[in-house]
Amino acid sequence: MLFRELIILEEATSTNELLFRASLQEYPLGTALLARVQTKGRGRAQRVWESAPGGMYLSVMWETQDVQGLSLLGAHCIATMCREQWGLPAQIRWPNDVVLQGKKLAGVLPQVKFVGAVVERVVLGVGWNVGQAEQSFSSEILEQATTLSHHLAEIPDVEDLARGFLERLEAELEFFGQTGCEELCKRSEGYLEGLEEGLVGWVRHESGDKRRLGRLKGLNSAAELVFEGGEVLQHLGPQERLRFES
Ligand code: BTN
Repeated sequence: MLFRELIILEEATSTNELLFRASLQEYPLGTALLARVQTKGRGRAQRVWESAPGGMYLSVMWETQDVQGLSLLGAHCIATMCREQWGLPAQIRWPNDVVLQGKKLAGVLPQVKFVGAVVERVVLGVGWNVGQAEQSFSSEILEQATTLSHHLAEIPDVEDLARGFLERLEAELEFFGQTGCEELCKRSEGYLEGLEEGLVGWVRHESGDKRRLGRLKGLNSAAELVFEGGEVLQHLGPQERLRFES
């Protein structure tokens, strides 16, 4: 077993920060932390991750030197669970989101800690909107977000969901170790937002600038987005977002 223990905290600042900063005596490799609430939840590019009761705020820590494709791996696990458990057509919004009908259901945040040139630990955080009350979201997030409870008759138990995610992640990591990033990318392509729909990708900067990327073609073996016409999107800057239009 890669993941040895799931620790449940009634409240945490940020489960990612706790695992990233802790000594390995306090939290050994293989620890998973689930918080019912976070007071300083963080997302990509240091954005705030709103973390009211009812959501799943989970981080897990392990050791690997293979850090490529971690966001995709996490998003792939969530999208697969949604499809297999509830038949929900969840999609991956590259690089680290899972969306349902265009609205954000979950986000993944990997952090890598080095000692010299060697990776000491990776921490993978998942924020999954499950059963938070609508009023708990700020108006800005409410417009763009959805929760599992919005799509299901019964709200899943957050602890069960976390255990299910860890099981799925463990199995995916084993497969990933054997087959590598290229295979993960192939398997994830079918989940990519914008691909089946034949949509055109744009990078939008907070300043209002936007850059047309072209029609989405898929993922290359390094988990980068490839567009017709030859554009390749390797990463998104902190003030950038990827959006698709017809
Ligand atoms: C994103 O979409 O920007 C990623 C969001 C990741 C949020 C999770 S919640 C558990 C863990 N702790 C954090 O502070 N962030 C991650």
